[in-house]
Amino acid sequence: MTILVTGATGKVGRNVVTGLLAAGRTVRAISRSPQRAGLPEDVEVLRADLADPATLRAALDGVEKVFVFPTAPDGTRALTAAAAQAGVRHLVLLSSTVPGYPKPNPISDAHLAHERIVQDADLPWTFVRPGGFMSNDLAWAHSIRSAGVVRDPCPGSAVALIDERDIAAVAVAALLDDTHVGQAHEITGPRSLTPVQRTRILARAIERPLRFETLPAAEFTEVVTSQGYPPEYATAMLDFGEHFATTPGPVHPTVERITGRPPYTYADWAAHHTTHFR
Ligand SMILES: NC(=O)c1ccc[n+]([C@@H]2O[C@H](COP(=O)([O-])OP(=O)(O)OC[C@H]3O[C@@H](n4cnc5c(N)ncnc54)[C@H](OP(=O)(O)O)[C@@H]3O)[C@@H](O)[C@H]2O)c1
Repeated sequence: MTILVTGATGKVGRNVVTGLLAAGRTVRAISRSPQRAGLPEDVEVLRADLADPATLRAALDGVEKVFVFPTAPDGTRALTAAAAQAGVRHLVLLSSTVPGYPKPNPISDAHLAHERIVQDADLPWTFVRPGGFMSNDLAWAHSIRSAGVVRDPCPGSAVALIDERDIAAVAVAALLDDTHVGQAHEITGPRSLTPVQRTRILARAIERPLRFETLPAAEFTEVVTSQGYPPEYATAMLDFGEHFATTPGPVHPTVERITGRPPYTYADWAAHHTTHFR
């Protein structure tokens, strides 16, 4: 049984690949640049682009299950159509808890669009819905290394960020076990923490004092748009920040229930990533 991993060279996907290999599964990965993929040699890596449906047919040949990484909705549509044609029998989508956020916003809309496309493919599915990733804090690496400072627009926003290894572990469990079919797993890290608290934890991990500064909203919007996102995404993120400053983000017990071990803490994540911050 071959399992296809899309987004396999990404932070979550790499851990999905290694988790499936550790479980003894045959893994195929796609990448737009297989020569730079850097995946374990037991993985068959094919060149394919979710924006180019013609490249997907070969990738799905003989595949039984797919880890679906969301790029653009058209990419998910092309992938799920090709999966249906190839006789795939389970799609596990990397989604987000954001669809459940109480106010309408474009980030929720984007994730919901991927979930609807997967449901419309009429194949068995599982949604893995992580909250914010701990790896988002890699955005602080440059200013930490150069000036010992963390700049964030929402100092009091408390959310239970999740380690990418836990997201992957839940996805692997879903890919290995059909009892997850039809379920949407909301997953978070073990504790809601503010950026100020996370700054302290990072300082301990790299054994260097760090300063926290509030990043003005306009500067944050510039950063987000310079990464290719529309300004409405920055507005939505600032709105999430205000919301979670008054109502700390939920902590779900799902990772432990599904994997049998507690999720990684922020201190664990920081210790695993010190090279980025030193
Ligand atoms: N950050 C958060 O807080 C958060 C919260 C909830 C959900 N999410 C979801 O998680 C995703 C990020 O996951 P991540 O950090 O693991 O991603 P990542 O490290 O940024 O990796 C991106 C992956 O996407 C692949 N990719 C991009 N465009 C492609 C295309 N046209 N065709 C084929 N592959 C393509 C890349 O593969 P190649 O370059 O090798 O082709 C790479 O493997 C977000 O996009 C979002 O949907 C994020």
